[in-house]
Amino acid sequence: MVGPDREVALIERSKVWMRQLMWKYEIPGRLRFRAFSSAEEAVRFILEFGGSIAVKPSEQVGGKGVKVVADLQAYLSGEKRDALSRSAGRIAELVKDEVKLIIEEKVDGPEYTLHILTDGHTYLPLPLAQDYKHAYEDGIGPETGGMGSISGPGSLLPFIIEEEYGRSVEIIRLTIEAIRRETGRDYVGVLAGQMMLTGLWGPTIIEYYSRFGDPEASAIIPRIEGDFGEVLELTATGHLSRARIGVVEKPSVVRAVAPLGYPLDRRMASGHRVWLDLPRMRELGCRVYFGSIALEGMQLITRGSRALELVVIDEFGEAVRKLDKCFSLISSDTRLIYRHDIGSAIETQIEKAEIVRYTYKARERAGLLGVSADWSPNGGLW
Ligand code: GLY
Repeated sequence: MVGPDREVALIERSKVWMRQLMWKYEIPGRLRFRAFSSAEEAVRFILEFGGSIAVKPSEQVGGKGVKVVADLQAYLSGEKRDALSRSAGRIAELVKDEVKLIIEEKVDGPEYTLHILTDGHTYLPLPLAQDYKHAYEDGIGPETGGMGSISGPGSLLPFIIEEEYGRSVEIIRLTIEAIRRETGRDYVGVLAGQMMLTGLWGPTIIEYYSRFGDPEASAIIPRIEGDFGEVLELTATGHLSRARIGVVEKPSVVRAVAPLGYPLDRRMASGHRVWLDLPRMRELGCRVYFGSIALEGMQLITRGSRALELVVIDEFGEAVRKLDKCFSLISSDTRLIYRHDIGSAIETQIEKAEIVRYTYKARERAGLLGVSADWSPNGGLW
């Protein structure tokens, strides 16, 4: 089996355990945090603290429940304060554990995901990918399981430089070692860092997955040259040092296709007919992955979630052109959600990353990497 067992997979399940581990072993890219056992305590802290924060459930609840409080002034009004209490209460209700909520310092910057395969001794970093989480174009709308992703060129992304890739790999490697020291167990499988390039640290951990990210995997795995099944077998059997993989230089772009209603109204998004011209799509260079869709007789019927993923490996401009053509070969008796912006506006992301890079490099030169003026040195810790 390729995948960590329940004990070491705690790194994904418990945000409190994860943040404590990062602080205990002084892993770079760690955010300050506090944990609370009730929504009331958390809201009191937010109002007293006065800075920008993210409120999250303390354990994994299917990606639901992040609340960002960026404008505290707004929350000082009674109405907004009630709304904040209600959202904190809703997040707390999702959690079974005694510790309900975690409040983290809020950071900004371009996000990316790094996956590392390990058999416990050897580390094999895979190419970076970026997940587009929001339902609609320009990153608005509810968070979804992922409306698409990009990977490349090479092992990087257009807005992450080689040195940042190296630092990100080091963060994940240190995490795997910290898990071993903390639990006495080898972590075997894939550990993914969902990361952000921030002015505070440069590469920073937002959360970890103890599995492949979706839809990141759909962008990464088709770009791996060699027998990926064999690489997974070498991981599971403790022989990862024998694995040799190459990476296609050209990038990939993945776009999901979901029925209207997704992700908030599963019923509305279910039971719709979909038609596609698969041979023509393949001729155009699109791979089509089937997700929440079933073949009933000769008809494809949606099942309420992301139905298809379209994948093209090509330079970004060419890839998005091919994807749009492929999407035009899909029809349905409902409206389909498909983000045309995934894989485009790459320049804007590069510009944002340059500003962030300038900031963290300046902090680093001043010996202030990871130091936050808002949070007292240990006051933020559990
Ligand atoms: N890419 C988000 C996830 O797999 O949870």
